[in-house]
Amino acid sequence: MCGIVGYIGHRQAFPILIKGLHRLEYRGYDSAGIAILQDKIKLYKTKGKVSDLEELVKGENLSGNIGIAHTRWATHGEPNNENAHPHLSPSGDLALIHNGIIENYAILKKELLKRGHVFLSDTDSEVLVHLIEDIMINDKVTLVEALQIALGYVIGAYAIIILSRNNPDLLLAAKKGSPLVIGIGKDEFFIASDATPIVEYTKDVVYLKEEEIAILERNKDLKLITVSNQEKRPYIEQLEMSLSELEKEGFPYFMLKEIYEQPRSIRDSMRGRLNAEKGIVSLGGIIDYEKNLVNAKRILIIGCGTSWHAGLVGKYLLEDLARIPVEVEYASEFRYRNPVICEGDVVIAVSQSGETADTSAAIELAKSKGAIILGICNVVGSSITRVTHAGTYTHAGPEIGVASTKAFTAQVTILTLLALRLGYIRGTIQESRYRQLLFELETIPEKVEQTLKTFDIIKNISNIFKDSKNFIYLGRGYNFPVALEGALKLKEISYIHAEGYPAAEMKHGPIALIDEEMPVVVIATNKGTYQKVLSNIAEVKSRKGKIIAIVTEGDVAVKKIADFVIEIPETEEMFVPLIATIPLQLLSYQIAVIRGCNVDQPRNLAKSVTVE
Ligand code: G6P
Repeated sequence: MCGIVGYIGHRQAFPILIKGLHRLEYRGYDSAGIAILQDKIKLYKTKGKVSDLEELVKGENLSGNIGIAHTRWATHGEPNNENAHPHLSPSGDLALIHNGIIENYAILKKELLKRGHVFLSDTDSEVLVHLIEDIMINDKVTLVEALQIALGYVIGAYAIIILSRNNPDLLLAAKKGSPLVIGIGKDEFFIASDATPIVEYTKDVVYLKEEEIAILERNKDLKLITVSNQEKRPYIEQLEMSLSELEKEGFPYFMLKEIYEQPRSIRDSMRGRLNAEKGIVSLGGIIDYEKNLVNAKRILIIGCGTSWHAGLVGKYLLEDLARIPVEVEYASEFRYRNPVICEGDVVIAVSQSGETADTSAAIELAKSKGAIILGICNVVGSSITRVTHAGTYTHAGPEIGVASTKAFTAQVTILTLLALRLGYIRGTIQESRYRQLLFELETIPEKVEQTLKTFDIIKNISNIFKDSKNFIYLGRGYNFPVALEGALKLKEISYIHAEGYPAAEMKHGPIALIDEEMPVVVIATNKGTYQKVLSNIAEVKSRKGKIIAIVTEGDVAVKKIADFVIEIPETEEMFVPLIATIPLQLLSYQIAVIRGCNVDQPRNLAKSVTVE
């Protein structure tokens, strides 16, 4: 995790770097720091958020047009001032910021300690900057050469930027495992963990590849070399992101804005891919591998967190419509458990950020065993999109709130389209049913829009349950993953313990927890196992639990026994997750707001988990 940003050019670096840090704060917010080159390196860093750093530097002279800055999600060393980046070399001539983990830092540190190095922090990153300077001095090589040699020793993942007092017209950056993007302006370079700090200055970007080093020199063209000293030609791409996508646009939090964006983001995910009138579903990005999917003996879906939940909805959809067996795996488990991958298996990796370390490692493992890997990612150009054989973007637009909302519904939308497409080609859905489903799918954005109107009712419910210590979420069939996702959202942003459970499994354990203090959120829409869920609700009621039910508009039976109901528009059972998730997102949001939690940046979490 961690966000890193650098600038070299003719403008003042400080405002660019601070704005960049704010944009990258979703990647971690344990500490923040900045280094600007004047006649020496001016360094400021502090525990806390970017706003704490701004407070710290108030009144300081930070003029200069070359600098680097960092926002941290702690891995090695607790979040404190010393462990905040940038880290300096022993002479103070080099400053380094780092995103990733140097796995063999302890061995390297031991060696350096023997040679008299003194460390001020507990971080792996400080070891790297010491190592680079040590090599420069002892091997009498240039900074670039020392960097190449040092990175040759390093095991692990890194995205780093280095500022050098003795090279005032130079920034160096290098990448392995963690992402880095370079923005190319007129006589200036921007560099950051993702494109959000860059987009307002230039649309020309280069995504660094594995083990590449970027040499950013004032008034010179970008130069790329590898750790093993091969020259590379920069491949310049155009950013599609717009600045307005990165602003709150009047909403108090990004999360609320992103919840309200879902009618649009779901529509954007379908755009050009669904034409109900003509009976067409097409996913252009994976067309070359469609045959592999159609003939797949098994599909494996891998992901983490909310993306795993989307994968679970995908399993239900693909098995239901395309009749292909599907397994959904936590990437972190999959990568370490010697999984069976057979010829004819297709792996689908689901990831909003496209950077999740466990998902990337699971992809590498499946690839090494010969599987075809397809991706469903949101962030254009992200690492996972570069290592999969093919993929489909979700087109949800940048998601900044750490708790995922619109990315989830976009992922489910793509999986729905995929299941419909495969079911149609495989002949496992009748033509008339297929057509009917396409028309219904087209109405979903409107129905999501309508569902957002439940916010007032949800505000009342939130006031009543804001102090609850625990919640249970229940759902069956397609609504089981919705229950899991609802519980995860509440945990993430309001810090209330919540469990998602298959409604009927409740009687095998969680029922013991139910008393008059326990709110139970039940997704009880009118299709599938509706009658069975009614019985599950009765079981909770008879133990005095409080029922908050998500029901289909016009419902009578649940209304009679539930304490609170939230009505959502009727749709096909398989499309309910796209709608029923919305009130659960709003419920967790509102409870978190009332409890005074930082909704967009919940404690201990980060949006892009580039460490395992
Ligand atoms: C983190 C985020 C979650 C996200 C998960 C997987 O834990 O806080 O919101 O679901 O990572 O991330 P990905 O980018 O792979 O979807």
